[in-house]
Amino acid sequence: MYLLFGEKMKIEYSKKLQQLPPYLFLEIDILKKKMLEKEKDIIDLSVGDPDIATPGFIIDRAREAVADAKNHRYPFGSGMTQLKEAIAKWYRSRFNVTIDHEEEVLVLIGSKEGIGHIPLAFVDNGDTVLVPDPAYPVYNASTILAGGVPYHMPLLAENDFLPDLDDIHHQTVREAKLMFLNYPNNPTAAVAGEEFYQQAVKFAAANNIIIAHDAAYSEIAYESYRPMSFLQVPGAMEVGVEFHSLSKTFNMTGWRIGFVVGNRNIIKGLARVKSNIDSGAFRAVQCAATVALESGTGHLEQQTLVYQERRDIIVNGLNELGWHITKPQATFYVWVPVPPGRTSREMALWLLEKTQIIVTPGNGFGRYGEGYIRVSLTSPTVRIKEAITRLKDEGVHKSRF
Ligand SMILES: Cc1ncc(COP(=O)(O)O)c(C=O)c1O
Repeated sequence: MYLLFGEKMKIEYSKKLQQLPPYLFLEIDILKKKMLEKEKDIIDLSVGDPDIATPGFIIDRAREAVADAKNHRYPFGSGMTQLKEAIAKWYRSRFNVTIDHEEEVLVLIGSKEGIGHIPLAFVDNGDTVLVPDPAYPVYNASTILAGGVPYHMPLLAENDFLPDLDDIHHQTVREAKLMFLNYPNNPTAAVAGEEFYQQAVKFAAANNIIIAHDAAYSEIAYESYRPMSFLQVPGAMEVGVEFHSLSKTFNMTGWRIGFVVGNRNIIKGLARVKSNIDSGAFRAVQCAATVALESGTGHLEQQTLVYQERRDIIVNGLNELGWHITKPQATFYVWVPVPPGRTSREMALWLLEKTQIIVTPGNGFGRYGEGYIRVSLTSPTVRIKEAITRLKDEGVHKSRF
């Protein structure tokens, strides 16, 4: 229909976009802004974005690669061969998993990009996708944007924050095309072992469901704990892929580089979606990622000690204040139960108003996140110490909250 002169066009959002859940952190964002305007000394423990800089050797390689004109053109394709070879080599040395660098690796513009696009390759209108809850919100959003219907698998404390696959109704299982999993987990900091992955692979194979395992935090782990790859389990290569990110491992969130490895036909499907809508990651960034993956574990050992110290300050501090939190084995998050009778939102708002500490209310990650707040360890250690001092000075105690 034509518009009459002077009539304004009506901008209508797609039904899919309208279906996305509301942004739950808005209230906190507004309060934070107000406090910053008043020059309040805010301690932000809400973001999963490392405060530590990208290691110098990675920056040096990037600098060199940026100056090289052959890296200025469209990157195209599934990634630079040298990076894909480095990924396959890293997989072999880190997990003892053999990957064909030509067919079983795809370089991504950050793992979020791949996670955001994978349903477009395998999900049709009305198809079910199994999504953990609470979870990194992109699994739910990418499902909806592809026309799929998310089925939320509760991650409960009594199940060690693993989904109970036997509890999913058989009709739902029959209709499911894809299942997202994520361990070490954001936001609960839970980890998964061989037994769970074996069960997941068996479940996926029996029901023809693709597994998309998000292992963005596989390298952020403490003491002697080393998270395994889901691809180490026999049969995993037949049913799934695993997403990795250089963001957390090498403090490269802003560089936008990640990758996915696994089943070649699944990789091919995602590559086909991507070839239609993007043109690959900047080659200079791919060069930098190559040296990062080839660099061994020196940088990680140092970095882990920093997060470990922060984790201990938070967990010990909260436990002195009446909590009973066990130290997470992996990720840079602590998943803190809210005192009985309080909601996640109430506790987050209370902390911000009384102590100027920002945390993330758990319900922002899904309805099963209600009853928790997520504390991130990506602020400088002195600020983390200061946060615990403020809680103590304010007389916070779990039983009197
Ligand atoms: C579980 C999880 N997966 C993936 C990502 C995205 O990482 P990237 O920077 O590689 O897109 C994040 C970022 O916070 C995350 O928490």
